[in-house]
Amino acid sequence: MAFLDIAHVGKTFGAASVVNDVNLAIEKGEFVTLLGPSGCGKTTLLRMIAGFESASSGSIHIDGHDVTLQRARQRRVGMVFQSYALFPTMTVADNIAYGLKIAREPKSAIAERVEQMMKLIRLSQHAQHYPWQLSGGQQQRVALARALASSPRLLLLDEPLSALDAKIRVALRDEIRALQRKLGITTLFVTHDQEEALSLSDRVVVMNEGRIEQVGTPFEIYNFPRTRFVASFVGTLNILNSRVLDEASGLVEVDGQTVTVARLRRSGHGERTLALRPEAVVLESPLAGRNSLMATIEEVNFLGSVVRLRARLQETVLSFDIFNDPGQTLPQRGSRVALGFSHDNLLELEAS
Ligand SMILES: Nc1ncnc2c1ncn2[C@@H]1O[C@H](COP(=O)(O)OP(=O)(O)O)[C@@H](O)[C@H]1O
Ligand SMILES: [Mg+2]
Repeated sequence: MAFLDIAHVGKTFGAASVVNDVNLAIEKGEFVTLLGPSGCGKTTLLRMIAGFESASSGSIHIDGHDVTLQRARQRRVGMVFQSYALFPTMTVADNIAYGLKIAREPKSAIAERVEQMMKLIRLSQHAQHYPWQLSGGQQQRVALARALASSPRLLLLDEPLSALDAKIRVALRDEIRALQRKLGITTLFVTHDQEEALSLSDRVVVMNEGRIEQVGTPFEIYNFPRTRFVASFVGTLNILNSRVLDEASGLVEVDGQTVTVARLRRSGHGERTLALRPEAVVLESPLAGRNSLMATIEEVNFLGSVVRLRARLQETVLSFDIFNDPGQTLPQRGSRVALGFSHDNLLELEAS
């Protein structure tokens, strides 16, 4: 059994089923992210693991123990919230000490642990400050220290960076990951931000409407999405509606032109939904062994290091990126271009 084992867990509020038959196994020391749009059930799942919410069905095991019916305090789980949730009338040191005091740890042990935690988050000089005297990023580091102070078996973070400015967000994100590696603590992180999920995680769990859509490494999730939902939620994506012409060779038709799919998932003829990432497309004359589509440039967006172009076949519109190069001439709107990409880059998505 995995360190954190979630089996057939569901949650209903009245008639509404918000978490649906979730199965997830997380190994000791792993950093796993739940990624999904607002309202898909991420917080509810996290709260069931922490024990703030009971599961309507299924079971949860932590380190071999069945915690499904245990109260939050018995589970030895640390949690960090989006809103920091620090006690406003307590100093930084007292906030961090809170859980240890509740657990009736000896005074000297608490003092030592608090000092250790403040060093860990580099806020020792703020020990006697109150939360309102700290920046958002600092407050969130205190919340992290408070969650870690009682040496939890599991660290749960619910969109801990969402309330912060972009720059702080990236800095704190890297800090959380470094800390997690140093402590080796098994971590489940919740976000609706795909970049955050991809950059932080050993594995990403993509959720949609209370269900898990796909679990995989960031590389797998981004490069080999199984469903249209995963493909479009994780990164920018071009969708091509196609019709199979020759199954054996993978030849399909898109808006009256033909391209080849390296691997068709299903056998038979008929319609297939294909996905193509913007970075897979280049401007190039048709080449043997590569796909080529003729299109008309509709939009040229100069973004600095990259230029994002939009081109139309007939119904199909493709976005793609080229790197900036001061020596090149950018294509003009209305010009006809040939778009090249490899057979491997056309992914067939599951029928939805
Ligand atoms: N205590 C509750 N009572 C009724 N509905 C709830 C409760 N908590 C959450 N929900 C509903 O469950 C769904 C999932 O919510 P949540 O887990 O917070 O999603 P997320 O964290 O992914 O945004 C939402 O539709 C939300 O309105
Ligand atoms: Mg939430």
